[in-house]
Amino acid sequence: MAATRTFSIIKPDATRRNLTGAVTKMLEDAGLRVVASKRIRMTEDQAKKFYEVHAERPFYGELVDFMTSGPVVVQVLEGEDAVKRNRDVMGATNPADAEEGTIRKAFAESIEANSVHGSDSDENAATEIAFFFSDDEIVG
Ligand code: CDP
Ligand code: MG
Repeated sequence: MAATRTFSIIKPDATRRNLTGAVTKMLEDAGLRVVASKRIRMTEDQAKKFYEVHAERPFYGELVDFMTSGPVVVQVLEGEDAVKRNRDVMGATNPADAEEGTIRKAFAESIEANSVHGSDSDENAATEIAFFFSDDEIVG
């Protein structure tokens, strides 16, 4: 299968604990290549728009507050079946349900502060990549 791309965020709970390298190593060990990366502080507008799909969920307001509470590292990852490969190494949304060997099992603090975001489909990956990166920032 050909290489595809997905979008990843190392969330504020992980950057705060200096886990950028540890998380990235787990992504790389899972067969993903970082082809774009930048550390940013998301604005409230960005976080609201990024998580718009969850706007009606009860956790939306707190999630926006959390995602803007500190720096994040946004990344484009490339690899075979990148969306699934990334979701597999991330583990379940709730760390209590995450399997051994996953990023969330290793590092997540709670269902909200769960260390990483990863796109859930090729279509959403393309949209999310374009939300944070221009083409010339992605070097495969
Ligand atoms: O990130 P993932 O795709 O696994 O889960 P999601 O259902 O798309 O939810 C997006 C994010 O919202 C999660 O990663 C959590 O940070 C947060 N969330 C939350 O705070 N409380 C929940 N009950 C569910 C999700
Ligand atoms: Mg999701």
